[in-house]
Amino acid sequence: MGHVWLIGMMGSGKTSVGRLLAERLESPFYDTDATVEANAGLTVAEIFDGLGEPRFRELEGLAVRAIASQDDGVVSTGGGIVLDSSNVDFMRESGTTVLLDADVETLVARIGAAADRPLISGDPKRRLREIASARADAYEKAADLVVDATCSIEHVANRVEAACSDS
Ligand code: S3P
Repeated sequence: MGHVWLIGMMGSGKTSVGRLLAERLESPFYDTDATVEANAGLTVAEIFDGLGEPRFRELEGLAVRAIASQDDGVVSTGGGIVLDSSNVDFMRESGTTVLLDADVETLVARIGAAADRPLISGDPKRRLREIASARADAYEKAADLVVDATCSIEHVANRVEAACSDS
């Protein structure tokens, strides 16, 4: 059935849900941020700081392409993956995209101080609200399936599993 690509805002639970789901399905787990960091030898925050967001987006695009060609698995993506429609094409061609949908209050509660997320430093709640509204269309267009992610990680994983097996 191809990869399960988890997309959605920072704090929507993509990494925790992805790890749990991959474990349950006994399939590989991939993470675009972790791939970018391993390839660059720098953290996401260091890349934003030292090389700038455009370079981060290039590296992120390369990570999507590299993961797309690996064995089927569950993929946690960076929240901005949908900003480049060619990333979306690669994800959909190699599997199913599942949007983890959560309100800003849930995102803030999951993220806390967000020291490692450069785009929301300062005032996470305000920034998350702005980013969520700027990206709402892109997420909707990119999603094959949408799952309500305003509940526990276990429940979200159940919902993703059920949605994928129904589709
Ligand atoms: C970003 C989300 C982050 C990371 C980077 C940019 C975004 O990943 O890729 O800080 O643009 O939404 P998570 O969604 O895993 O936090």
